[in-house]
Amino acid sequence: MDSNNIWITLAVLAAYINLSYSNQESCKLQDRRFEWNDKPEEENDKVTAILGGDVTLKCVLNGVTEILSQITWQRWINEKIENFLIYHPKIGPHPLVPFARRVTFVGKGAWDGSIIIKNVSLSDEGKYNCIFTTFPTGSHDHFIKLFVQVIPSITVSSENILLAGKGEATVATCIAAHGKPAAKVSWETHLEKESHVVDEFFAENCTVTIRSQLLTFPTKEMNQLELHCVVTHPTFQQPEILPYKLNISYPPSVVLKTFVDEPDQLTLYCEADANPAPTKFVWIKEHKMLQNMSTNKIFLTKLAPHHTGLYSCEASNQHGTGNGNLFLLVEETFTDKTRMIVVFIPVVILTLTVLTFTIKVLCFGDEAAFSTKTAVRQKPNDTKQARDSDEVKIG
Ligand SMILES: *[C@@H]1O[C@H](CO)[C@@H](O)[C@H](O)[C@H]1NC(C)=O
Ligand SMILES: *[C@@H]1O[C@H](CO)[C@@H](O)[C@H](O)[C@H]1NC(C)=O
Ligand SMILES: *[C@@H]1O[C@H](CO)[C@@H](O)[C@H](O)[C@H]1NC(C)=O
Ligand SMILES: *[C@@H]1O[C@H](CO)[C@@H](O)[C@H](O)[C@H]1NC(C)=O
Repeated sequence: MDSNNIWITLAVLAAYINLSYSNQESCKLQDRRFEWNDKPEEENDKVTAILGGDVTLKCVLNGVTEILSQITWQRWINEKIENFLIYHPKIGPHPLVPFARRVTFVGKGAWDGSIIIKNVSLSDEGKYNCIFTTFPTGSHDHFIKLFVQVIPSITVSSENILLAGKGEATVATCIAAHGKPAAKVSWETHLEKESHVVDEFFAENCTVTIRSQLLTFPTKEMNQLELHCVVTHPTFQQPEILPYKLNISYPPSVVLKTFVDEPDQLTLYCEADANPAPTKFVWIKEHKMLQNMSTNKIFLTKLAPHHTGLYSCEASNQHGTGNGNLFLLVEETFTDKTRMIVVFIPVVILTLTVLTFTIKVLCFGDEAAFSTKTAVRQKPNDTKQARDSDEVKIG
């Protein structure tokens, strides 16, 4: 990033924070306008609806023995009072503005003026008043505050390529976008060291986006570790739990292994632990390149003493290269052959075709280079790897 780009980024960030801040202030103001000082708080005056859902505003007047002239529904919209529906005992309900098309009068008779608002939108949030006009005393107000909640949309992801051993990094980001009210975001992990950076952004429509970043020191062992982002919100019956698998990149560490497939055939297998998987394997014998391709195996057929030598395999991904080495010793076992020829002539032909070599394998990977202190004897076809030194005897 050059300095121009940095300034642009900072300017955009500053504008973003400013915008969020001014939105937050105006949303607070809006909430404050919600607070009515003219009436004591009553539980049944608060109604919550979910965006896109239907909500019933109950309005029942009890214990009045007068004559009902009409019921008027009004709401505060953009700081103005708007009458949107009237009900006359003889005529029935009558809508006054386009909004009232989403309103159904469900009151049963004179003293019940309840309505249902269908497909609630954010702009429906506000103060409502249902006024019973009676004769002879006048009118009775019934105030209702309607709060509209918005279900946040939740995602968990990682934006960066995460490299093991390169210091602290944001390994996962959980976003609860455009919820109302703001969602709460937390993490469930088995990480030993972690920290969180949480920020919130208020949109103009008073929905809130919460972003929680999970920071830790990525290691190779953390690759594929599962963790969870936990989001709670009033519109959820229980917390939403989102699983996420860490994807930590690291260069290959390589171990060269041998497998005896056929009596006189050996597979050299370049076992590389890497993320992403290596794309290139270079095979070298005694400083001469044998192969340079994407295969992690080479086959040595018709084993003979000329196969003896130091083999190495270099595996690479975009983060680096690792290599494994192995010394292979192939020698003829004349002693056995001679004895067999003398004693079991018919068997000799068979024995000769089956096997005439002893194969000695010395192996050293990245970590155990050139150490041969614990020699492990391996049976043919046993695929277990001996780290420091193997001796494979076929016969
Ligand atoms: C609900 O209202 C939104 C706009 O606020 C509209 O796009 C949507 O089609 C409506 N849904 C129904 C079922 O009427
Ligand atoms: C892990 O991240 C690397 C580098 O960004 C990407 O190439 C690879 O596809 C990712 N693997 C998974 C399982 O998401
Ligand atoms: C609120 O505003 C944001 C940002 O403009 C928008 O993405 C979101 O869909 C809006 N939500 C509703 C319910 O209108
Ligand atoms: C292997 O081949 C690639 C091209 O395919 C080349 O860039 C690379 O240098 C080769 N590696 C060796 C060790 O020769």
